[in-house]
Amino acid sequence: MECYPYPLKPPSTYTIFFEKERQKMPTLDEILNMRYSCRDYDSRPVSEGDLTAICEAARLAPSACNSQTWRFVVVRDRNLISRVCNEAMRPVIRNQWMKEAPVLIVGCSKLDVVANKIGSAVTGIEYYQIDLGIAMEHMVLKATELGLGTCWIGWFREDRIKEILEIPEKIKVLALLTVGYPKGGDAAKSRRKPLGELVFHNRWKGR
Ligand SMILES: Cc1cc2nc3c(=O)[nH]c(=O)nc-3n(C[C@H](O)[C@H](O)[C@H](O)COP(=O)(O)O)c2cc1C
Repeated sequence: MECYPYPLKPPSTYTIFFEKERQKMPTLDEILNMRYSCRDYDSRPVSEGDLTAICEAARLAPSACNSQTWRFVVVRDRNLISRVCNEAMRPVIRNQWMKEAPVLIVGCSKLDVVANKIGSAVTGIEYYQIDLGIAMEHMVLKATELGLGTCWIGWFREDRIKEILEIPEKIKVLALLTVGYPKGGDAAKSRRKPLGELVFHNRWKGR
């Protein structure tokens, strides 16, 4: 018997399934609001499936000329993470909390991609840096969706990281990212400047 008046059709089982799945997943706005720099991790390991999903999110990122100059070293060996922490951090901000993170992703760039080098020589823009930033933030957002905490780390000695992880000299290490389950409790939200200070319409405003 036809229960739905034309042109409405009954939802297919697929539509019902995906709608239910969608309702369980946080929206992009929720993910953006949930994310914070997590510096306190549980020892619970991150599953292989979640790590693959995080890497896949990076793989889908856009890049200048589609050059995909990024490479990632996913470190789960606790000794190696400890060595990176003890031997490769810079003074003052020693990031000692990173030892507790079960996963450390090392964001690298290949500098010998011709299209990228030509583009940068012409415009003066280091596209590989933008590309890696986008790809790693894709990772951050995917991890957040999966209930994982992350923190970017930029205060490190590249030479020491390369030595410890046997990364070739010609590769640039640009950023590190810790990944793991947050120990609990909501971290205080860091403040942001108001939109009016950051966004201008049509013309630059101020100095
Ligand atoms: C490129 C980059 C490098 C960073 N380096 C460090 C770092 O070495 N140590 C650290 O504790 N946090 C680091 N952070 C995290 C920032 O301190 C943090 O994003 C900022 O204070 C805003 O806080 P929120 O991420 O909780 O919103 C870094 C963030 C970025 C994007």
